[in-house]
Amino acid sequence: MHTWDELNSFILHCGGCPLAQTRRLPVVGKGDRHAAVMMIAEAPGAQEDIEGLPFVGPAGKMLDRLLAGAGLSRSDVYLTNIVKCRPPGNRDPHEEEKNSCMPYLRYEAYLLRPQIIVCLGRVAAQRIISADYRITRQHGTWIRRKNCDLTAVYHPSAVLRDPSKLEAAQLDFIKIAEHLRKLLSEKPDVPERP
Ligand code: URA
Repeated sequence: MHTWDELNSFILHCGGCPLAQTRRLPVVGKGDRHAAVMMIAEAPGAQEDIEGLPFVGPAGKMLDRLLAGAGLSRSDVYLTNIVKCRPPGNRDPHEEEKNSCMPYLRYEAYLLRPQIIVCLGRVAAQRIISADYRITRQHGTWIRRKNCDLTAVYHPSAVLRDPSKLEAAQLDFIKIAEHLRKLLSEKPDVPERP
């Protein structure tokens, strides 16, 4: 694999785990392929499964609201999921499903070389940042790994389910935007390939 097109073609024809039997469409990442920010969520939901695009359902509207509140839009980020096919009934993806999809995510990160990675929600944070990540306690904190800054925020669906999380999510998005502006105003620093 060398290009985005090749990567997406692999994903669109993937039969690597049992989700291939129940999905309608795989959902490939979308956004600016030169973005400094990579946002990683857990898995497509019902509307994403129908359209084959990330965050086109209600969670997507909340994501747009959080981005806009920080002066950002989807064109400023690259948006993807750990698992590219919808788990039935929106259950959490199983370990084997995440493992099967990880090479795709690694390749997306390789092609993009993000300076900032934002995990949207617990499932992504536990896979990408640390297995014992506690989203309620640790959201909005940063770690640095291989020249890339990583953080996690509440998943937009969690904010929809529990509006008391909205303010914290808004503040975290504002901090992400500030961090991005600071990085972009400094000398461009090309991160190592992950
Ligand atoms: N929720 C996710 O985690 N990913 C999507 O693409 C949509 C909803």
